[in-house]
Amino acid sequence: MRVCVIGTGYVGLVTGVCLSHIGHHVICIDNNEEKVKLMKSGQSPIYEPGLSELMQSSMKSGNLEFSSDLERGVDNSDILFIAVGTPALPTGESDTRYVEAVARGIGEHLKDGYKVIVNKSTVPIGSGDWVRMIVLDGVGERQKTLVAAGGPDASTQAIGAEFDVVSNPEFLREGSAVYDTFNPDRIVLGSNSQKALDMMQELYAPLVTRTFGEEENKNLPPVPIVTTDLNSAEMIKYAANSFLATKISFINEVANICDRVGADVVQVAKGIGLDSRIGTKFLQAGLGWGGSCFPKDVSALIHTADDYGYNSELLKSAVEVNKRQRAILLEKLQKELKILKGKVIGLLGLTFKPDTDDMRDAPSLDLIEQLNRLGAKVKAYDPIVSQTGISHGLSGVIIETDAERLADGCDALVLVTDWQQFANIDYEKLAKQMHSSRVIVDGRNFLDRKAAEKAGFRYVGIGH
Ligand code: NAD
Ligand code: UGA
Repeated sequence: MRVCVIGTGYVGLVTGVCLSHIGHHVICIDNNEEKVKLMKSGQSPIYEPGLSELMQSSMKSGNLEFSSDLERGVDNSDILFIAVGTPALPTGESDTRYVEAVARGIGEHLKDGYKVIVNKSTVPIGSGDWVRMIVLDGVGERQKTLVAAGGPDASTQAIGAEFDVVSNPEFLREGSAVYDTFNPDRIVLGSNSQKALDMMQELYAPLVTRTFGEEENKNLPPVPIVTTDLNSAEMIKYAANSFLATKISFINEVANICDRVGADVVQVAKGIGLDSRIGTKFLQAGLGWGGSCFPKDVSALIHTADDYGYNSELLKSAVEVNKRQRAILLEKLQKELKILKGKVIGLLGLTFKPDTDDMRDAPSLDLIEQLNRLGAKVKAYDPIVSQTGISHGLSGVIIETDAERLADGCDALVLVTDWQQFANIDYEKLAKQMHSSRVIVDGRNFLDRKAAEKAGFRYVGIGH
Protein backbone atom coordinates (compact mmCIF):
# COMPACT_ATOMS: atom_id res chain seq x y z
CA MET A 1 0.00 0.00 0.00
CA ARG A 2 1.08 3.63 -0.41
CA VAL A 3 1.72 5.30 2.93
CA CYS A 4 2.82 8.76 4.05
CA VAL A 5 4.08 9.35 7.61
CA ILE A 6 4.23 12.99 8.66
CA GLY A 7 6.66 13.69 11.50
CA THR A 8 9.79 11.57 11.74
CA GLY A 9 10.44 11.46 15.48
CA TYR A 10 10.58 8.40 17.72
CA VAL A 11 7.14 7.25 16.55
CA GLY A 12 6.95 8.48 12.96
CA LEU A 13 10.35 7.28 11.82
CA VAL A 14 10.01 3.87 13.47
CA THR A 15 6.49 3.45 12.02
CA GLY A 16 7.61 4.52 8.54
CA VAL A 17 10.66 2.30 8.54
CA CYS A 18 8.79 -0.76 9.84
CA LEU A 19 5.87 -0.35 7.42
CA SER A 20 8.32 -0.09 4.52
CA HIS A 21 10.11 -3.20 5.76
CA ILE A 22 6.88 -5.24 5.61
CA GLY A 23 6.39 -4.27 1.97
CA HIS A 24 4.53 -0.97 1.83
CA HIS A 25 5.80 2.06 -0.04
CA VAL A 26 6.40 4.79 2.52
CA ILE A 27 7.19 8.49 2.18
CA CYS A 28 8.31 10.04 5.46
CA ILE A 29 7.75 13.79 5.65
CA ASP A 30 9.30 16.21 8.12
CA ASN A 31 9.38 19.99 8.07
CA ASN A 32 12.84 19.96 9.65
CA GLU A 33 15.05 20.19 6.55
CA GLU A 34 18.20 19.23 8.49
CA LYS A 35 16.57 16.00 9.63
CA VAL A 36 15.34 15.19 6.12
CA LYS A 37 18.85 15.74 4.74
CA LEU A 38 20.33 13.44 7.38
CA MET A 39 17.74 10.71 6.73
CA LYS A 40 18.21 10.95 2.96
CA SER A 41 21.89 10.19 3.58
CA GLY A 42 20.82 6.98 5.38
CA GLN A 43 21.37 8.23 8.94
CA SER A 44 18.78 8.11 11.69
CA PRO A 45 18.38 11.35 13.67
CA ILE A 46 17.47 9.34 16.78
CA TYR A 47 19.11 6.48 18.63
CA GLU A 48 16.89 3.42 18.63
CA PRO A 49 18.34 -0.12 18.58
CA GLY A 50 18.09 -1.75 15.12
CA LEU A 51 16.52 1.28 13.44
CA SER A 52 19.43 2.50 11.28
CA GLU A 53 20.06 -0.94 9.74
CA LEU A 54 16.38 -1.43 8.88
CA MET A 55 16.12 2.09 7.52
CA GLN A 56 19.08 1.63 5.21
CA SER A 57 17.83 -1.71 3.89
CA SER A 58 14.34 -0.27 3.17
CA MET A 59 15.90 2.70 1.38
CA LYS A 60 17.93 0.32 -0.77
CA SER A 61 14.82 -1.69 -1.68
CA GLY A 62 13.16 1.54 -2.87
CA ASN A 63 10.31 1.22 -0.36
CA LEU A 64 11.33 4.19 1.80
CA GLU A 65 11.75 7.84 0.86
CA PHE A 66 12.21 11.04 2.81
CA SER A 67 10.97 14.48 1.88
CA SER A 68 9.90 17.82 3.30
CA ASP A 69 7.27 18.21 0.58
CA LEU A 70 3.88 17.47 2.15
CA GLU A 71 2.05 17.81 -1.17
CA ARG A 72 4.16 15.03 -2.65
CA GLY A 73 3.40 12.83 0.32
CA VAL A 74 -0.34 13.48 0.08
CA ASP A 75 -0.47 12.98 -3.70
CA ASN A 76 1.38 9.67 -3.60
CA SER A 77 -0.31 7.95 -0.66
CA ASP A 78 -3.62 6.36 0.30
CA ILE A 79 -2.96 6.29 4.03
CA LEU A 80 -1.56 9.39 5.77
CA PHE A 81 -0.20 9.07 9.32
CA ILE A 82 0.03 12.17 11.52
CA ALA A 83 2.92 11.45 13.91
CA VAL A 84 4.05 14.88 15.09
CA GLY A 85 4.70 15.81 18.72
CA THR A 86 1.97 16.75 21.20
CA PRO A 87 4.00 18.15 24.12
CA ALA A 88 2.45 19.51 27.32
CA LEU A 89 1.51 23.16 27.67
CA PRO A 90 2.33 24.80 31.03
CA THR A 91 -1.32 24.18 32.02
CA GLY A 92 -0.83 20.41 31.57
CA GLU A 93 -3.06 20.16 28.50
CA SER A 94 -1.74 18.81 25.25
CA ASP A 95 -0.30 21.27 22.73
CA THR A 96 -1.96 20.23 19.47
CA ARG A 97 -0.62 23.01 17.27
CA TYR A 98 1.64 20.66 15.25
CA VAL A 99 -1.24 18.26 14.59
CA GLU A 100 -3.36 21.21 13.53
CA ALA A 101 -0.70 22.47 11.10
CA VAL A 102 -0.38 19.03 9.51
CA ALA A 103 -4.16 18.48 9.28
CA ARG A 104 -4.61 21.87 7.62
CA GLY A 105 -1.69 21.13 5.28
CA ILE A 106 -3.22 17.79 4.28
CA GLY A 107 -6.54 19.52 3.55
CA GLU A 108 -4.82 22.10 1.40
CA HIS A 109 -3.29 19.35 -0.74
CA LEU A 110 -6.16 16.84 -0.95
CA LYS A 111 -7.31 16.20 -4.49
CA ASP A 112 -9.61 13.61 -6.03
CA GLY A 113 -9.61 10.13 -4.58
CA TYR A 114 -10.10 8.56 -1.17
CA LYS A 115 -7.56 8.85 1.67
CA VAL A 116 -7.40 7.59 5.23
CA ILE A 117 -5.95 10.12 7.68
CA VAL A 118 -4.57 8.41 10.77
CA ASN A 119 -3.96 10.06 14.14
CA LYS A 120 -0.86 8.23 15.37
CA SER A 121 0.11 11.13 17.62
CA THR A 122 -1.32 10.93 21.14
CA VAL A 123 -4.12 13.46 20.95
CA PRO A 124 -6.82 14.66 23.38
CA ILE A 125 -10.12 12.83 23.32
CA GLY A 126 -12.27 14.30 20.56
CA SER A 127 -9.33 15.01 18.26
CA GLY A 128 -10.54 12.64 15.54
CA ASP A 129 -13.54 14.87 14.81
CA TRP A 130 -11.43 17.98 15.32
CA VAL A 131 -8.84 16.79 12.78
CA ARG A 132 -11.65 16.12 10.31
CA MET A 133 -12.83 19.70 10.80
CA ILE A 134 -9.33 21.18 10.34
CA VAL A 135 -8.74 19.09 7.19
CA LEU A 136 -12.03 20.38 5.79
CA ASP A 137 -10.94 23.95 6.67
CA GLY A 138 -7.76 23.29 4.68
CA VAL A 139 -9.80 21.99 1.76
CA GLY A 140 -11.97 25.12 1.95
CA GLU A 141 -8.96 27.42 1.99
CA ARG A 142 -7.53 25.76 -1.08
CA GLN A 143 -10.85 26.01 -2.80
CA LYS A 144 -10.98 29.75 -2.06
CA THR A 145 -7.49 30.18 -3.50
CA LEU A 146 -8.47 28.26 -6.63
CA VAL A 147 -11.64 30.31 -7.07
CA ALA A 148 -9.69 33.54 -6.55
CA ALA A 149 -7.23 32.38 -9.22
CA GLY A 150 -10.28 31.87 -11.46
CA GLY A 151 -9.36 28.45 -12.86
CA PRO A 152 -12.14 26.80 -14.89
CA ASP A 153 -12.36 23.75 -12.58
CA ALA A 154 -11.81 25.89 -9.51
CA SER A 155 -14.79 24.75 -7.50
CA THR A 156 -14.70 21.06 -8.39
CA GLN A 157 -11.06 20.18 -7.69
CA ALA A 158 -11.26 20.33 -3.92
CA ILE A 159 -14.82 19.00 -3.70
CA GLY A 160 -13.46 15.70 -5.04
CA ALA A 161 -11.53 15.23 -1.80
CA GLU A 162 -12.87 12.26 0.16
CA PHE A 163 -11.36 11.00 3.40
CA ASP A 164 -11.94 9.37 6.79
CA VAL A 165 -10.08 9.81 10.05
CA VAL A 166 -8.83 6.84 12.07
CA SER A 167 -7.34 6.91 15.56
CA ASN A 168 -4.48 4.41 15.73
CA PRO A 169 -2.66 5.09 19.01
CA GLU A 170 0.93 3.94 19.36
CA PHE A 171 2.16 1.82 22.28
CA LEU A 172 5.85 1.38 21.42
CA ARG A 173 8.47 2.01 24.10
CA GLU A 174 11.62 3.93 23.35
CA GLY A 175 14.65 1.68 23.46
CA SER A 176 12.66 -1.26 22.07
CA ALA A 177 10.56 0.59 19.49
CA VAL A 178 11.41 -1.65 16.52
CA TYR A 179 10.75 -4.82 18.52
CA ASP A 180 7.46 -3.41 19.82
CA THR A 181 6.31 -2.44 16.33
CA PHE A 182 6.88 -5.94 14.95
CA ASN A 183 5.57 -7.65 18.10
CA PRO A 184 2.64 -5.56 19.33
CA ASP A 185 0.36 -6.76 22.14
CA ARG A 186 -2.59 -5.32 20.22
CA ILE A 187 -3.47 -2.86 17.48
CA VAL A 188 -6.17 -0.31 18.30
CA LEU A 189 -8.18 1.19 15.44
CA GLY A 190 -10.88 3.76 16.13
CA SER A 191 -13.16 4.94 13.35
CA ASN A 192 -16.76 5.14 12.25
CA SER A 193 -15.85 4.19 8.67
CA GLN A 194 -15.73 0.50 7.73
CA LYS A 195 -13.87 1.39 4.52
CA ALA A 196 -11.10 3.09 6.50
CA LEU A 197 -10.94 0.22 9.02
CA ASP A 198 -10.65 -2.32 6.19
CA MET A 199 -7.72 -0.43 4.69
CA MET A 200 -5.99 -0.24 8.07
CA GLN A 201 -6.46 -3.97 8.61
CA GLU A 202 -4.93 -4.66 5.20
CA LEU A 203 -1.99 -2.39 6.08
CA TYR A 204 -1.28 -4.23 9.32
CA ALA A 205 -2.02 -7.75 8.06
CA PRO A 206 1.67 -8.84 7.94
CA LEU A 207 2.09 -7.74 11.58
CA VAL A 208 -1.16 -9.35 12.71
CA THR A 209 -0.04 -12.71 11.29
CA ARG A 210 3.34 -12.24 13.01
CA THR A 211 5.17 -12.75 9.70
CA PHE A 212 7.83 -10.23 10.78
CA GLY A 213 7.75 -10.80 14.54
CA GLU A 214 10.47 -12.43 16.63
CA GLU A 215 10.92 -16.18 16.28
CA GLU A 216 9.77 -16.78 19.87
CA ASN A 217 6.43 -15.08 19.10
CA LYS A 218 5.70 -16.85 15.80
CA ASN A 219 3.50 -19.50 17.42
CA LEU A 220 1.38 -17.03 19.31
CA PRO A 221 -2.18 -16.40 18.08
CA PRO A 222 -2.63 -13.45 15.67
CA VAL A 223 -2.19 -9.97 17.16
CA PRO A 224 -5.60 -8.85 18.44
CA ILE A 225 -7.11 -5.87 16.64
CA VAL A 226 -9.36 -3.77 18.85
CA THR A 227 -11.76 -1.72 16.74
CA THR A 228 -13.59 1.08 18.52
CA ASP A 229 -15.16 4.45 17.95
CA LEU A 230 -12.76 7.42 17.68
CA ASN A 231 -13.15 8.69 21.26
CA SER A 232 -12.61 5.28 22.84
CA ALA A 233 -9.42 4.67 20.84
CA GLU A 234 -8.06 8.03 22.00
CA MET A 235 -9.05 7.23 25.59
CA ILE A 236 -7.34 3.80 25.40
CA LYS A 237 -4.01 5.51 24.80
CA TYR A 238 -4.32 7.88 27.78
CA ALA A 239 -5.73 5.15 30.03
CA ALA A 240 -2.88 2.75 29.15
CA ASN A 241 -0.14 5.27 29.92
CA SER A 242 -1.90 6.53 33.04
CA PHE A 243 -2.36 2.98 34.33
CA LEU A 244 1.32 2.12 33.79
CA ALA A 245 2.47 5.37 35.43
CA THR A 246 0.12 4.75 38.38
CA LYS A 247 1.44 1.19 38.73
CA ILE A 248 4.98 2.58 39.07
CA SER A 249 3.85 5.22 41.56
CA PHE A 250 2.11 2.46 43.52
CA ILE A 251 5.27 0.37 43.83
CA ASN A 252 7.25 3.49 44.72
CA GLU A 253 4.79 4.18 47.52
CA VAL A 254 5.23 0.58 48.70
CA ALA A 255 9.03 1.05 48.49
CA ASN A 256 8.85 4.09 50.76
CA ILE A 257 6.86 2.11 53.32
CA CYS A 258 9.35 -0.79 52.95
CA ASP A 259 12.16 1.62 53.83
CA ARG A 260 10.41 2.46 57.08
CA VAL A 261 9.40 -1.04 58.15
CA GLY A 262 12.50 -2.88 56.98
CA ALA A 263 10.99 -4.86 54.08
CA ASP A 264 12.56 -5.24 50.62
CA VAL A 265 10.47 -3.86 47.73
CA VAL A 266 12.28 -6.05 45.18
CA GLN A 267 11.08 -9.18 46.99
CA VAL A 268 7.66 -7.64 47.53
CA ALA A 269 7.33 -6.77 43.80
CA LYS A 270 8.19 -10.35 42.89
CA GLY A 271 5.76 -11.69 45.44
CA ILE A 272 2.83 -9.62 44.23
CA GLY A 273 3.78 -9.65 40.54
CA LEU A 274 3.51 -13.42 40.26
CA ASP A 275 -0.21 -13.01 40.87
CA SER A 276 -1.36 -13.06 37.25
CA ARG A 277 -3.95 -10.39 38.04
CA ILE A 278 -1.10 -8.01 38.95
CA GLY A 279 1.77 -9.05 36.65
CA THR A 280 5.51 -8.60 37.19
CA LYS A 281 6.06 -5.74 34.72
CA PHE A 282 6.26 -2.07 35.70
CA LEU A 283 6.92 -2.85 39.34
CA GLN A 284 10.49 -1.59 39.44
CA ALA A 285 10.70 0.94 42.25
CA GLY A 286 13.15 3.82 42.00
CA LEU A 287 13.44 7.44 41.02
CA GLY A 288 10.06 7.39 39.30
CA TRP A 289 8.83 7.79 35.77
CA GLY A 290 10.02 10.34 33.24
CA GLY A 291 10.24 10.57 29.47
CA SER A 292 8.35 12.28 26.71
CA CYS A 293 5.03 10.55 27.36
CA PHE A 294 4.01 9.46 30.86
CA PRO A 295 4.36 12.93 32.41
CA LYS A 296 2.56 14.75 29.60
CA ASP A 297 -0.12 12.11 29.02
CA VAL A 298 -1.07 11.76 32.69
CA SER A 299 -1.26 15.57 32.96
CA ALA A 300 -3.36 15.76 29.80
CA LEU A 301 -5.87 13.20 31.09
CA ILE A 302 -6.12 15.03 34.44
CA HIS A 303 -6.72 18.23 32.47
CA THR A 304 -9.40 16.66 30.27
CA ALA A 305 -11.14 15.26 33.36
CA ASP A 306 -11.04 18.74 34.97
CA ASP A 307 -12.49 20.25 31.79
CA TYR A 308 -15.43 17.87 32.09
CA GLY A 309 -16.03 18.50 35.78
CA TYR A 310 -14.24 15.45 37.22
CA ASN A 311 -11.44 15.72 39.77
CA SER A 312 -9.08 12.84 39.01
CA GLU A 313 -7.66 12.35 42.50
CA LEU A 314 -5.96 9.02 41.81
CA LEU A 315 -3.99 10.37 38.83
CA LYS A 316 -3.10 13.56 40.71
CA SER A 317 -1.71 11.40 43.54
CA ALA A 318 0.29 9.30 41.06
CA VAL A 319 1.91 12.52 39.84
CA GLU A 320 2.61 13.71 43.40
CA VAL A 321 4.17 10.38 44.40
CA ASN A 322 6.33 10.58 41.30
CA LYS A 323 7.54 14.09 42.18
CA ARG A 324 8.26 13.03 45.75
CA GLN A 325 10.37 10.13 44.52
CA ARG A 326 13.08 12.54 43.28
CA ALA A 327 13.03 14.31 46.67
CA ILE A 328 13.42 10.98 48.47
CA LEU A 329 16.62 10.32 46.58
CA LEU A 330 17.99 13.70 47.67
CA GLU A 331 17.01 12.95 51.27
CA LYS A 332 18.94 9.68 51.08
CA LEU A 333 22.02 11.59 49.88
CA GLN A 334 21.62 14.16 52.66
CA LYS A 335 21.29 11.40 55.24
CA GLU A 336 24.54 9.81 54.03
CA LEU A 337 26.62 12.93 53.34
CA LYS A 338 24.86 15.46 55.61
CA ILE A 339 25.54 18.87 54.01
CA LEU A 340 25.56 18.66 50.21
CA LYS A 341 27.09 22.09 49.66
CA GLY A 342 30.62 21.60 48.36
CA LYS A 343 30.13 17.87 47.76
CA VAL A 344 30.71 16.21 44.40
CA ILE A 345 27.92 13.91 43.17
CA GLY A 346 28.39 11.63 40.16
CA LEU A 347 25.36 10.53 38.16
CA LEU A 348 25.47 7.20 36.36
CA GLY A 349 23.06 7.74 33.48
CA LEU A 350 21.18 10.79 32.22
CA THR A 351 18.59 9.58 29.70
CA PHE A 352 15.07 8.91 31.02
CA LYS A 353 15.54 5.17 30.46
CA PRO A 354 18.23 2.92 28.93
CA ASP A 355 18.79 2.39 25.18
CA THR A 356 17.55 5.81 24.14
CA ASP A 357 19.07 9.24 23.61
CA ASP A 358 15.85 10.93 24.77
CA MET A 359 16.27 13.41 27.61
CA ARG A 360 12.71 14.77 27.63
CA ASP A 361 11.46 14.97 31.24
CA ALA A 362 14.34 12.75 32.38
CA PRO A 363 14.48 12.34 36.19
CA SER A 364 18.19 13.28 35.96
CA LEU A 365 17.18 16.85 35.03
CA ASP A 366 15.26 17.29 38.30
CA LEU A 367 18.16 15.84 40.27
CA ILE A 368 20.73 18.10 38.60
CA GLU A 369 18.57 21.15 39.31
CA GLN A 370 18.07 20.26 42.98
CA LEU A 371 21.72 19.29 43.58
CA ASN A 372 22.86 22.57 42.00
CA ARG A 373 20.41 24.46 44.18
CA LEU A 374 21.87 22.78 47.26
CA GLY A 375 25.42 23.77 46.24
CA ALA A 376 26.76 20.37 45.11
CA LYS A 377 28.96 19.93 42.06
CA VAL A 378 27.32 17.47 39.63
CA LYS A 379 29.16 15.24 37.17
CA ALA A 380 27.62 12.58 34.95
CA TYR A 381 28.47 9.71 32.67
CA ASP A 382 25.88 8.35 30.27
CA PRO A 383 26.71 5.76 27.58
CA ILE A 384 24.88 7.69 24.87
CA VAL A 385 25.07 11.32 25.99
CA SER A 386 28.82 11.07 26.72
CA GLN A 387 29.47 9.35 23.39
CA THR A 388 27.35 11.49 21.08
CA GLY A 389 27.95 14.75 22.88
CA ILE A 390 24.21 15.46 22.59
CA SER A 391 23.82 17.91 25.44
CA HIS A 392 20.09 18.64 25.07
CA GLY A 393 20.74 22.00 26.70
CA LEU A 394 22.09 20.27 29.83
CA SER A 395 23.49 22.82 32.21
CA GLY A 396 24.97 22.59 35.70
CA VAL A 397 26.58 19.23 35.02
CA ILE A 398 30.04 18.14 33.88
CA ILE A 399 29.83 15.31 31.35
CA GLU A 400 32.57 12.69 31.80
CA THR A 401 33.66 10.23 29.13
CA ASP A 402 33.69 7.10 31.29
CA ALA A 403 32.63 5.78 34.68
CA GLU A 404 36.13 5.89 36.19
CA ARG A 405 36.57 9.54 35.38
CA LEU A 406 33.13 10.13 36.78
CA ALA A 407 34.02 8.54 40.11
CA ASP A 408 37.23 10.57 40.42
CA GLY A 409 36.81 12.87 43.42
CA CYS A 410 33.11 12.07 43.98
CA ASP A 411 31.57 11.90 47.45
CA ALA A 412 28.67 9.82 46.18
CA LEU A 413 27.47 8.15 43.02
CA VAL A 414 23.81 7.94 42.05
CA LEU A 415 22.62 5.34 39.56
CA VAL A 416 19.95 7.25 37.66
CA THR A 417 19.40 5.14 34.51
CA ASP A 418 19.54 1.35 34.47
CA TRP A 419 21.78 0.98 31.40
CA GLN A 420 22.81 -2.68 31.11
CA GLN A 421 26.47 -1.56 30.80
CA PHE A 422 26.35 -0.35 34.40
CA ALA A 423 26.07 -3.94 35.61
CA ASN A 424 29.53 -4.71 34.25
CA ILE A 425 31.55 -1.77 35.58
CA ASP A 426 34.56 -2.52 37.82
CA TYR A 427 33.07 -0.94 40.94
CA GLU A 428 36.18 -1.68 43.01
CA LYS A 429 38.17 0.62 40.73
CA LEU A 430 35.44 3.24 40.99
CA ALA A 431 35.40 3.11 44.79
CA LYS A 432 39.16 3.71 44.89
CA GLN A 433 38.76 6.91 42.84
CA MET A 434 36.28 8.39 45.27
CA HIS A 435 36.48 10.43 48.46
CA SER A 436 36.30 8.48 51.68
CA SER A 437 32.50 8.44 51.87
CA ARG A 438 32.10 5.99 48.94
CA VAL A 439 28.33 6.03 48.88
CA ILE A 440 26.30 4.68 45.98
CA VAL A 441 22.59 5.44 45.86
CA ASP A 442 20.94 3.01 43.46
CA GLY A 443 18.02 4.98 42.05
CA ARG A 444 16.77 1.94 40.12
CA ASN A 445 17.49 -0.93 42.55
CA PHE A 446 19.55 -2.26 39.67
CA LEU A 447 22.90 -3.19 41.19
CA ASP A 448 23.77 -6.21 43.28
CA ARG A 449 23.98 -4.87 46.84
CA LYS A 450 26.47 -7.52 47.98
CA ALA A 451 28.79 -6.92 45.01
CA ALA A 452 28.67 -3.17 45.56
CA GLU A 453 29.49 -3.57 49.25
CA LYS A 454 32.30 -5.98 48.43
CA ALA A 455 33.70 -3.35 46.06
CA GLY A 456 33.92 -0.96 49.01
CA PHE A 457 30.68 1.02 48.64
CA ARG A 458 28.05 1.89 51.15
CA TYR A 459 24.98 0.83 49.15
CA VAL A 460 21.64 2.63 49.48
CA GLY A 461 18.61 1.41 47.50
CA ILE A 462 14.99 2.57 47.24
CA GLY A 463 12.96 0.44 49.64
CA HIS A 464 15.60 -2.22 49.05
P1 NAD B 1 9.15 13.82 18.23
O1 NAD B 1 9.16 15.16 18.85
O2 NAD B 1 10.30 12.91 18.43
O3 NAD B 1 8.94 13.96 16.65
C1 NAD B 1 8.02 14.83 16.06
C2 NAD B 1 8.51 15.14 14.64
O4 NAD B 1 7.50 15.87 13.96
C3 NAD B 1 9.76 16.00 14.59
O5 NAD B 1 10.73 15.40 13.76
C4 NAD B 1 9.28 17.33 14.00
O6 NAD B 1 10.26 17.98 13.22
C5 NAD B 1 8.12 16.86 13.15
N1 NAD B 1 7.14 17.91 12.83
C6 NAD B 1 6.60 18.85 13.63
N2 NAD B 1 5.73 19.62 12.95
C7 NAD B 1 5.71 19.15 11.68
C8 NAD B 1 5.02 19.52 10.50
N3 NAD B 1 4.15 20.54 10.49
N4 NAD B 1 5.25 18.83 9.38
C9 NAD B 1 6.12 17.78 9.35
N5 NAD B 1 6.80 17.39 10.44
C10 NAD B 1 6.60 18.06 11.59
O7 NAD B 1 7.81 13.13 18.73
P2 NAD B 1 7.57 11.60 19.12
O8 NAD B 1 8.25 11.28 20.40
O9 NAD B 1 7.81 10.75 17.93
O10 NAD B 1 6.00 11.64 19.42
C11 NAD B 1 5.07 11.83 18.39
C12 NAD B 1 3.69 11.53 18.94
O11 NAD B 1 3.58 10.15 19.27
C13 NAD B 1 3.34 12.28 20.22
O12 NAD B 1 1.98 12.60 20.21
C14 NAD B 1 3.62 11.27 21.31
O13 NAD B 1 2.85 11.48 22.48
C15 NAD B 1 3.22 9.98 20.64
N6 NAD B 1 3.91 8.78 21.15
C16 NAD B 1 5.25 8.84 21.39
C17 NAD B 1 5.92 7.69 21.82
C18 NAD B 1 7.39 7.71 22.11
O14 NAD B 1 7.89 6.71 22.59
N7 NAD B 1 8.11 8.78 21.84
C19 NAD B 1 5.20 6.49 21.96
C20 NAD B 1 3.83 6.48 21.69
C21 NAD B 1 3.18 7.64 21.28
C1 UGA C 1 5.82 4.45 27.57
C2 UGA C 1 4.88 3.24 27.44
O1 UGA C 1 5.49 2.11 28.06
C3 UGA C 1 4.60 2.93 25.97
O2 UGA C 1 3.66 1.88 25.87
C4 UGA C 1 4.03 4.18 25.31
O3 UGA C 1 3.83 3.98 23.93
C5 UGA C 1 5.00 5.33 25.49
O4 UGA C 1 5.25 5.55 26.90
C6 UGA C 1 4.46 6.61 24.96
O5 UGA C 1 3.26 6.82 24.95
O6 UGA C 1 5.31 7.40 24.59
P1 UGA C 1 8.44 4.86 27.30
O7 UGA C 1 8.13 6.19 27.90
O8 UGA C 1 9.25 4.80 26.08
O9 UGA C 1 7.06 4.10 26.97
O10 UGA C 1 9.21 3.98 28.38
P2 UGA C 1 8.78 3.04 29.60
O11 UGA C 1 9.54 1.79 29.49
O12 UGA C 1 7.32 2.94 29.75
O13 UGA C 1 9.36 3.87 30.84
C7 UGA C 1 8.82 5.12 31.21
C8 UGA C 1 9.45 5.59 32.52
O14 UGA C 1 9.03 4.77 33.61
C9 UGA C 1 10.98 5.55 32.51
O15 UGA C 1 11.46 6.70 33.16
C10 UGA C 1 11.30 4.30 33.32
O16 UGA C 1 12.55 4.37 33.96
C11 UGA C 1 10.17 4.30 34.33
N1 UGA C 1 9.86 2.95 34.87
C12 UGA C 1 9.41 1.97 34.04
C13 UGA C 1 9.98 2.72 36.24
O17 UGA C 1 10.37 3.61 37.02
N2 UGA C 1 9.67 1.48 36.72
C14 UGA C 1 9.22 0.49 35.92
O18 UGA C 1 8.93 -0.62 36.44
C15 UGA C 1 9.09 0.73 34.54
